[in-house]
Amino acid sequence: MTNDTRKDKPWQGRFTEATDAFVEAFTASVGFDRRLYEHDIDGSIAHATMLAACGILDDAEKRQIVDGLEAIRAEIRAGEFEWSVSLEDVHMNIEARLTERIGDVGKKLHTGRSRNDQVATDIRLYLREQIDRLGSELTRLQTGLVQLSAQEADTIMPGFTHLQVAQPITFGHHLLAWNAMLERDYARMQDCRRRVNVLPLGAAALAGTSYPIDREMTARLLGFDAVADNSLDAVSDRDFAIEFCACASLILMHLSRFSEELVLWSSAQFDFIDLPDRFCTGSSIMPQKKNPDVPELVRGKTGRVYGNLHALLTLMKSQPLAYNKDNQEDKEPLFDTIDTLYGCVRAFADMVPSIIPRRDNMRAAAGTGFSTATDLADYLVRKGIPFRDAHEIVGQAVRLGIDTGRDLSQMSLEELRRFSDRIDKDIFDVLTLEGSVASRNHIGGTAPAQVREAARTALERLRERAVD
Ligand code: ARG
Repeated sequence: MTNDTRKDKPWQGRFTEATDAFVEAFTASVGFDRRLYEHDIDGSIAHATMLAACGILDDAEKRQIVDGLEAIRAEIRAGEFEWSVSLEDVHMNIEARLTERIGDVGKKLHTGRSRNDQVATDIRLYLREQIDRLGSELTRLQTGLVQLSAQEADTIMPGFTHLQVAQPITFGHHLLAWNAMLERDYARMQDCRRRVNVLPLGAAALAGTSYPIDREMTARLLGFDAVADNSLDAVSDRDFAIEFCACASLILMHLSRFSEELVLWSSAQFDFIDLPDRFCTGSSIMPQKKNPDVPELVRGKTGRVYGNLHALLTLMKSQPLAYNKDNQEDKEPLFDTIDTLYGCVRAFADMVPSIIPRRDNMRAAAGTGFSTATDLADYLVRKGIPFRDAHEIVGQAVRLGIDTGRDLSQMSLEELRRFSDRIDKDIFDVLTLEGSVASRNHIGGTAPAQVREAARTALERLRERAVD
């Protein structure tokens, strides 16, 4: 990056002195908006093509401009482009280089356009591409998750409420709960994409342009679904970026919950799962340690993504129409959100298929905490006892269990019958962990048969995404 103040600024005409050196650096965005160069060039090529189709540029001029832009693209890709801070941003850097390469024809590219509609177009093109890239990673993560849940459809573990053992569930069912969250997240992203995919170009600085442009054509060339309705809104709207950050915040919120459980479960106290060494790190002082760094870091990164959402909301608050320089501040939070989210989803997509379940430990834990107490109450209801009375009876049986250090299934029939004479020897089918989970056999229930079916439908849905 150079700081060559001799570079002429395209807006220099009405100024009588050079920009203050610090102000130049302070107001420049090229340090971070460079990453939009591919989309800036795509937008410019579409704009020039449209101008030529409308007779505003002639074909020879268009050809020179397009060839020049493609040559610049190659220069940037090869790392041979010299970015200049005094040219402020990605847009002016590329435009200045175009004129340097092809002469005065380059100066015609900006006809009927402003950086205000140009930057809004670039961000939308870039974000659309990133949403698609994130979507593929989410699909990869979900696919791994659902495959693991099918494999673990029969694995019994305790289900928790208040982090206290509540009822037995299957590990596959638990995994599918995470998939349900991610399924909504994916749908939300796709919905957000629809509002991202709208063309601002043609709005020019704020009021539109006096040239006979064809915005529909530009939209078609760039793959936009629609043209922005109002020129003032087109250049100032950043809802789409906020919406994306809100979607990202929800995904990270979900991944932070997922992370929290992985951290708990991989601890010696739970020991429900093991994470492969390649996703963990050690301690520089305690030789025995193996730390679940990936989930911990994902949990931690949730904070910065929430912060970025808040930054963008505050950035847009009370801004008068139309474009204000404030908007230049949209990029860093948005880019950081994209990068952070991508990293987290990718790490999870890599890690989830290699989670190692400690099935015996999960099962043993499910046998503690009177996890089948509700099953006993339901049994009594089936024998004609009102639920509230059944609840009370089982409560007393649990009390005996606590006092004598035994689970309900470890009591004899005579002992259990002391609480209710409706209890028969078929009670022991109900009090087993397998019986308990198998009985919750309805859509959305934890029974192994339901989990297998739910995993099958979820996988089918994920496969359909690929062909959409
Ligand atoms: N770098 C600017 C941004 O990121 C581009 C638009 C500048 N427009 C202007 N009128 N100064 O928003």
